Formats: sequence, C-alpha cells, structure tokens
Amino acid sequence: MSERVTVLSEEQIAEKISIVAKQISQDYQGEELIVVAILKGAFIFCADLVRKLTLDKVKIDFLRAASYGSGTTSSEEVKLIKDIDIDIKGKHVLIVDDIVDTGLTLSFLIEHMRLRSPKSVKICTMIDKTERRNVTVNVDYACHTVSEGFLIGYGLDYAEDYRNLPGLYHLKQ
Ligand code: IMP
Ligand code: MG
Repeated sequence: MSERVTVLSEEQIAEKISIVAKQISQDYQGEELIVVAILKGAFIFCADLVRKLTLDKVKIDFLRAASYGSGTTSSEEVKLIKDIDIDIKGKHVLIVDDIVDTGLTLSFLIEHMRLRSPKSVKICTMIDKTERRNVTVNVDYACHTVSEGFLIGYGLDYAEDYRNLPGLYHLKQ
C-alpha cells in the first residue's frame, strides 16, 4: 500500500509559479528567451510557467532525456531521446525541468546546450530536491525545495503513473 501526503496544493503551485515567472520576466526583460522543457516530467509545469511570463519574445522547444528506469532509483546514465529543433546559437536558453535530484540529468543537458554556443543557459525547476545531489548544478530558479522523498503529481511520475494529479504529493511506501 502506498500513501500520498500533499507537498503543494494546486493553489500553492500556482502562487509559486507566479513568483518565479515574475522574476524570470524581470531578468530577461527586453530579451528573446528560448524555453526548453524537459519531457515528460516538465510538460505541465512548463505550460503553466510560460503563460505567466510577460516577455514579448518567447520560443518553446522540447527535449526528452531519461535518467530513470521505471522505479524510484536514479541510474547513472543519461540518454537523449529527443533533441531540440530550434537553433539556440547566440540566444538565451532557459531549461525547464520538473525536479532536480542527483543533478546528473541537468549537468548533462547544460553541457549539451553549451556545445551549441547559446548566449546563456539557466535552469528553472519546479522542485529542487537536495539530499541526493552528487553533481553540482546551479539551480537559477526553483518553485519549491524539499530535502528528500519521492514526489508524484503535476507531471512527476512513478512508473509513468500519477503525472495527471493536479497537486504535488510525497509517495510513501
Ligand atoms: P537527476 O538526474 O537525478 O537529477 O534526476 C532528474 C530526473 O529524475 C527528474 O527529471 C525526474 O524525471 C526524475 N526524478 C527524480 N526525483 C523524482 C521524484 O521524486 N519523483 C519523480 N521523478 C523524479
Ligand atoms: Mg525528468
């Protein structure tokens, strides 16, 4: 049996996203921004975040990476399953992910982006989960920080289930 404990309600998520979106809009004011959402986990967060940005020029692309099997433990390898199509050379890139855990996925993706000579690369995550971090990643924007636990909902899955839940929950087994 597994139990769900609410980490953030739908309303709390919306509040946190408004705050982060305001900060991002200030930081990139007058600039063009390429938002790169990491599939599948970031699809809901990114959809909500970009609609709160008050920037005139925002382009959105998707990348799919996998660092997890179907359970709750991170594997060592990051695989790129789908790359972006937009040319990011000389552009500001904001990578949007659902959760930073070990940091392995994002450190790989930052390097992957940097090879294409963007003007800048920053990270925005819904959840910054700190306890298992073993690769240093500079998280520029985070809606919420937790130290540990396995989270589901709002795009985050456990073996592909629960992505559709409107809030964020801690899955206790
Ligand atoms: P990292 O490479 O260890 O930072 O793992 C990042 C990826 O692992 C995230 O984008 C998620 O897909 C997955 N992940 C890590 N922690 C959780 C969690 O608590 N719930 C669901 N997915 C997670
Ligand atoms: Mg992910």
